[in-house]
Amino acid sequence: IDDWSIHYAEGKAYESLKRAADEVVNTDTPVAFPTETVYGLGADATRSSAVKAIFAAKGRPADNPLIVHVHSLPQLRALLSGKQETSEETLRVEKDPIPEIYKPLIERFWPGPITIILPAPGRSTLAPEVTAGLPTFGARMPRSILALALLRLCGRPLAAPSANASTRPSPTAAEHVYDDLQGRIHTIVDGGPCEVGVESTVVDGLSSPPTILRPGGVTVEQLRQCPGWENVVIGYKDQQEGGASKPRAPGMKYRHYSPKAEVILFEAGAGRPGIEETDTKKTIGIIRTKNWEPALGLNIERNKAAGRNGHANGISQYANTSTPAITPSRLSNLLRSVAQHQIPHAEHYTSSCSDIWDIGLGAETEGVARGLFSALRELDKKGVETIYVEGISDKAGDDIAAAVMNRLRKAAEIRT
Ligand code: TXA
Ligand code: MG
Repeated sequence: IDDWSIHYAEGKAYESLKRAADEVVNTDTPVAFPTETVYGLGADATRSSAVKAIFAAKGRPADNPLIVHVHSLPQLRALLSGKQETSEETLRVEKDPIPEIYKPLIERFWPGPITIILPAPGRSTLAPEVTAGLPTFGARMPRSILALALLRLCGRPLAAPSANASTRPSPTAAEHVYDDLQGRIHTIVDGGPCEVGVESTVVDGLSSPPTILRPGGVTVEQLRQCPGWENVVIGYKDQQEGGASKPRAPGMKYRHYSPKAEVILFEAGAGRPGIEETDTKKTIGIIRTKNWEPALGLNIERNKAAGRNGHANGISQYANTSTPAITPSRLSNLLRSVAQHQIPHAEHYTSSCSDIWDIGLGAETEGVARGLFSALRELDKKGVETIYVEGISDKAGDDIAAAVMNRLRKAAEIRT
């Protein structure tokens, strides 16, 4: 892993990205890259051999479809119309292949953390492995500058799942990708810690009413504000009780987001564990959010771990046009606006009967989302046996708590 901050400072980011893009175009080995949600493992979505290598590197079941990433609407339209190359002029006179229902979402949220389900084009443009045999595929325009620049330099859509080994928590820093995939891939584009920290919201507007297949970086409340999406329904289940409804996002049925440690999730308001009474001579981890005190009241100092707020954007105007050609100087200008987020670190305490690694994610939902996967991974590295997690309330729907709790319930093996 190269040091991303040095590369930014020395203007070497362009060379690194170009090298990564060349690897995507010229080889079948996928390349890991940052997005604003989590790191993705990308390959040319039009080439079967390259897409197959993603599944192999991750150990991902072949029936779990991938999201296709694009840098512009013309690129998406070309994909949908089964064209390899396209000029903006030809597309302008034809009927727009993007379904009307998605226009308000694209307008408002792209580039950004939302994936839309579209009718799959023919095999001439999309490798069949991408869709895992479904008649649809997911598309997303990420807002990370590095992701957009890489897409633009590759000049083709990239199929990219999260860049973790299958079943592990998604990677929100380059180190996480390295830990999972070293020896299986050659290149990780290091963009520092991710801005959002949970994956994109996956929505199906082809069904009636439109459905949220996976909660993520765009909230249900934000969706409901869009014309045609007022009555969007929740199409995923992550509460333990009742119902045999089949999971609709195929990925939702697998073991997911699992650290090696056992995760014990305390839903918001469910009190806190009595560690000293119940966990003699164990190494345990604690992830705190709103109400639990540091190390659950043991006599220690408050730690400083928390995400920072801030946005890396400056490019939203490209949603309806096209990411401009990436040149070294344009890239270094764009990179100047990239916020440097921090990932949380665990503090170590000992009590009479436990070794405790404690992480505070702060009370803000955005900070919790940003630090969540990183915290699970960090506690695994400390070798803890059990992780106690303080959940947050996902009742309101006006923040990304639903995405956070969805991932945590899965990590705690509360299955759909
Ligand atoms: O934020 C994200 O979405 C990240 C970054 C890298 O963009 N990607 C990501 O990909 O999370 P992945 O493969 O880990 O999750 C994709 C999800 C899975 O739950 C998959 O089943 C669902 O999207 N999906 C993909 N294509 C689908 C389709 N045609 N119909 C329904 N669900 C689909
Ligand atoms: Mg994933």
